[in-house]
Amino acid sequence: MTQETERVTIRVKRYIPEGDGQPFFQDYSVPFRSDMVVLDGLIYIKDHLDGSLTYRWSCRMGVCGSCGATVNGTPRLTCETLLKDLKTPMVTVEPLYNFPVIKDLVVDIDDFMKKLQSVKPWIIRETEKPLKEGEFLQKPEEMDLYKQFSACINCMLCMAACPVYASDREFIGPATGALALRYILDTRDEGRESRLSELTGKGGVWDCTFAGDCTVVCPKNVDPARALQRLKFESINDLVKTILMPGLKK
Ligand code: SF4
Ligand code: FES
Repeated sequence: MTQETERVTIRVKRYIPEGDGQPFFQDYSVPFRSDMVVLDGLIYIKDHLDGSLTYRWSCRMGVCGSCGATVNGTPRLTCETLLKDLKTPMVTVEPLYNFPVIKDLVVDIDDFMKKLQSVKPWIIRETEKPLKEGEFLQKPEEMDLYKQFSACINCMLCMAACPVYASDREFIGPATGALALRYILDTRDEGRESRLSELTGKGGVWDCTFAGDCTVVCPKNVDPARALQRLKFESINDLVKTILMPGLKK
């Protein structure tokens, strides 16, 4: 693919549930511009070549997390992946791996949403204080503790790259771990115990083999592999405290 050829072939893995139920690849020749991202190519196909092509996107700026797909074998945000950077005459776009396909590039994310809910990704308080007493204040250095993990946009690229999740759908997964840790490290939160108990059970963080593929594909530098190792450390820490100092609040 070069500026001179002015066209690029986008090969899309398609699945049409109303058809014979078999996925197939379809090639589309798309006019090439050096500033085009993969999503621009997909939008061109839908607008000019094949209105039946189905995919998700919303913000077009790497924020909503909805446009993830497998591009030339790697999970990527299609709105942030420049065609010219792929340096191949043909670009292959498939749905994210490890998720059931609903249609073409649209995958079923119910499993991820259930796992995410199980770790309660919100601030938990044992007791609330009256509104008139104002906000729960936090120092910048306290925010720094969880800031990196709060950058997660739920794009699920890490889940699609994870070899453990690929072989065991019970595994909680890297994104779930990163988001759980974000709240555990928040000084305003008091839900540590219930989250860690969810995260260290069957399919929990101890199933992570630290392959690190999740961190490599993460577009927001969240480092979910580090989050999972930190959660292992936090659970051991709590266990040791429970043994040495029973009755101590963690
Ligand atoms: S950890 Fe990174 S790759 Fe995983 S869902 Fe969050 S932003 Fe996406
Ligand atoms: S369209 Fe929102 S992240 Fe790509």
